[in-house]
Amino acid sequence: MLNIILMGLPGAGKGTQAERIVDEFQIPHISTGDAFRAAVKEETPLGKKAKEYMDKGLLVPDEIVIGIVKERLGKDDCQKGFMLDGFPRTVPQAEALENILSEMGKSIDHVINIQVPRDILLERLTGRRICKQCGATYHVIFNPPAKEGVCDKCGGELYQREDDNEETVATRLDVNIEQTEPLIKFYEEKGTLRNINGDQDINKVFEDITRILRGQA
Ligand code: AP5
Ligand code: ZN
Repeated sequence: MLNIILMGLPGAGKGTQAERIVDEFQIPHISTGDAFRAAVKEETPLGKKAKEYMDKGLLVPDEIVIGIVKERLGKDDCQKGFMLDGFPRTVPQAEALENILSEMGKSIDHVINIQVPRDILLERLTGRRICKQCGATYHVIFNPPAKEGVCDKCGGELYQREDDNEETVATRLDVNIEQTEPLIKFYEEKGTLRNINGDQDINKVFEDITRILRGQA
């Protein structure tokens, strides 16, 4: 069983690495960002609420996020492990997660924190493109598809996320930087935090992460 948290500021490469990790370790990928985007697309009451915050680059209130994660972790496929991507993002979320897991008799094995300087994050986010069909992530310069605007994996059309415009990106970074510091301390004190240099080649970042997950580092 492998229970992982993937942490990092917006653009650090959580989604990019998550695609590779779930492939390699065959565990479900739980992304709160993806969950909210799906709810927004379906125009559910939850989606409408979340959109108000996401469009401004703000965090969705803790109680909404926690409810979603609790429900998801209760599903059968999480028995063999799971990877949380973008959750927890605040200390109250981290505390709630501890409670949810302890009720289930589970705990977190690794907290992977992908570190990248702020100026690079800005560049990454504004150049990001995503596949409409399968959700694969690209970058117009750093990780371009073979054919412009088309997904290598499934041939789907690539699009830019609504919150990836320059103005929203700056707010997202600031809000997340502020919340992250105490969260890092929280996991440092538990002894589960592992920092990864995210400012290197995508494959090299993946190598560093797999080494930790296999207990080789
Ligand atoms: P979410 O979807 O989680 O967005 P985020 O945290 O802003 O993170 P991103 O998905 O933008 O970045 P990433 O780290 O996945 O980077 P990626 O791999 O794509 O959340 C969205 C919103 O939902 C939040 O703003 C908030 O409102 C709400 N929300 C979600 N969770 C919440 C929570 N727990 N509490 C409250 N609110 C919540 O990479 C970025 C780009 O860089 C790509 O183009 C990629 O190709 C490129 N790239 C990746 N790695 C490298 C590399 N090593 N070298 C060069 N380029 C690279
Ligand atoms: Zn695709």
